[in-house]
Amino acid sequence: MNVVFPPARRLSGELTPPPDKSISHRAALLAAMSDQPVCVRNYLDAADTNSTLGALRSLGVVCEQRPDELLIRGTGIRSPAEPTGTIDVGNAGTLMRLLPGWLAQLPSAVFHLDGDESIRRRPVDRIAHPLELMGARIIARDGRFPPFAVHGAPLRRIEYELPMASAQVKSCVLLAGLSTGAGVAVIEPAPSRDHTERMLLRAGADVRRAGTRVEVGNVDELELDEVVVPGDPSSAAFFLAAAAIVPGSRVVLHDVGVNWTRTGFLRVLARMGAHIEGTLEAPGSLVEVEPVSTLTVEHSELEATEVGADEVPLAIDELPLVALLGCFAEGETVVRGAGELRLKESDRIAGVVDGLAGLGADIEATDDGFAVRGGGGLRGGRIDALGDHRLAMLGAIAGLASREGVEVAGMDAAAVSYPGFRDDLEALVR
Ligand code: S3P
Repeated sequence: MNVVFPPARRLSGELTPPPDKSISHRAALLAAMSDQPVCVRNYLDAADTNSTLGALRSLGVVCEQRPDELLIRGTGIRSPAEPTGTIDVGNAGTLMRLLPGWLAQLPSAVFHLDGDESIRRRPVDRIAHPLELMGARIIARDGRFPPFAVHGAPLRRIEYELPMASAQVKSCVLLAGLSTGAGVAVIEPAPSRDHTERMLLRAGADVRRAGTRVEVGNVDELELDEVVVPGDPSSAAFFLAAAAIVPGSRVVLHDVGVNWTRTGFLRVLARMGAHIEGTLEAPGSLVEVEPVSTLTVEHSELEATEVGADEVPLAIDELPLVALLGCFAEGETVVRGAGELRLKESDRIAGVVDGLAGLGADIEATDDGFAVRGGGGLRGGRIDALGDHRLAMLGAIAGLASREGVEVAGMDAAAVSYPGFRDDLEALVR
């Protein structure tokens, strides 16, 4: 579906962004692994998180959608059913990489996983490697890609140094470590989102973090009672960016998750000179709660900034928006150490650079990021979402801030994480 987003006079108003995608996936998965029923409030109703419910149902988990909650009756860690067919992960990379962490610890069971065209281009060797070190066997197409099979086994403890900062790989290994008898330890090159650790803590697991080392102990049972999913900071980021670059704008967003491992983008935005109000969580110790805040952003004159490898995992899904902000900021905005962007729902370095260049940006790709010379804004034109939800929404925001408007080809991709995006945006545009 092609949609035109004309220039906006300004954005103003209040909004609550949709529930957090990462936390929704984890809530469903950990609830499925629990022995007692778990009530999840504010579960994200979007294509990706519905794929998770479908996958869990095929494992014998009951997911009951009630008027204002999702009730999940899990199977416990050790007794999911072995599905007769292939588990369909759809477009959901988080599901594809976290679920095997559970399945691998089920001795002599075999699970087949596959998904859509985009998921078939996304590597699974990053989880196959540690799971095989722990004792499981993963058979993947070309040794790297879906479809793939997980052959469960009794697992052993490892100390795993992650080659890349990835919350998905970290989470997979932590889940697999729950029944090794001795837990598991993971060392990251830089901190990544820690929702799995927080939720495992809430479920009674022994989780410890020291710097970039995370350790989880053995558990017999997860005891999660209720999970309330906060608003997604990655979805909120589109409106925050729009308000920052469209003159005269002021947007107030409620119930936004402000876990410090997700607020890298807000720190970048503030450094570029945007006026942001709200209480962010201070970086530090591991806690059970997922903090929320109301965030207010107003249009401001922006200055270029540099984003380096340490900051990248904390803003990974918002880096396309940093490129957009860069078009409106004085000077050269540079992102480095973000090669992981090439392995997302699309190659997000190529997609962002070609997409924004087509709208008039002075932007170039590097191996592991991009550089934008800003100040001139954007002319407008047409951008291809490439089947990637975040590129579709990037195109929409670019249109509002452009001189001539932007036509987004493939706007329906937004439904992967934010089916109500266009309605919410329309409510803010004046
Ligand atoms: C996610 C982790 C990140 C992120 C993705 C969601 C998660 O991926 O880009 O959208 O929920 O754990 P990586 O682990 O590949 O960095």
